[in-house]
This record gives sequence, structure tokens and C-alpha cells, in this order.
Amino acid sequence: MLLRYGPAGYNCLHQDVYGDLTFPLQVLIMLNTPDVDFTGGESVFVEQRPRQQSRAMVARPGLGEAVVFPVRHRPKQGARGHHRVQMRHGVSAVHTGERHVLGVIFHDAR
Ligand SMILES: [Fe+2]
Repeated sequence: MLLRYGPAGYNCLHQDVYGDLTFPLQVLIMLNTPDVDFTGGESVFVEQRPRQQSRAMVARPGLGEAVVFPVRHRPKQGARGHHRVQMRHGVSAVHTGERHVLGVIFHDAR
């Protein structure tokens, strides 16, 4: 998918889960230069931890850089071994310019 966000454009936290089967990883590739072609528009990832507050992470990939991230869950080491934590992602509001991203989802989007 080619995703375009203009001024004030954003994407709420979500999971790209469609259909019966979900490939666990997806990729975004930045097609513009942050701070030159656009400002704002950070890639936001939120980990929803059981019985704890959610934790946000922000990625600012440069032109041509890719981010590989989980569609739905990621494994996390806990006191009694690994467990799953829910992940959501979104895009913070673009302040100026246009942000284009190539989004690659490996499962059938129905
Ligand atoms: Fe998405």
C-alpha cells in the first residue's frame, strides 16, 4: 500500500488484522526525508502490557529506511518466561508537507 499523509493527517492506533490468517510481521518504508519534506508524522508503536500502563515507542525512519514491526503481538520476556503483548501502531499528525510511506502487509487483506 502507498500511504500519503498531508498536513493534519494522522492514523489512529490500530492493528492491520484482516482475514483468517495473519502474517506476524509487517514493514514500512519511508519515501520522504523527515524534517525536509514533512514535519511531524512520526511512526508510533504502543505496547499494551497486561496489568500495566501502555508504553509508546516512536520511530523516525529516514528516506529509504524500513521499519519491521509486529502486526498484532510481540513476545516479551517476563518473570515466568515469555508471554505475548499486544502491539498497535499509528502515525502522529503531520504538521507540514507530505509524508509518503510504502506499507507492506504479507497476509491477504480481505
Ligand atoms: Fe497499519
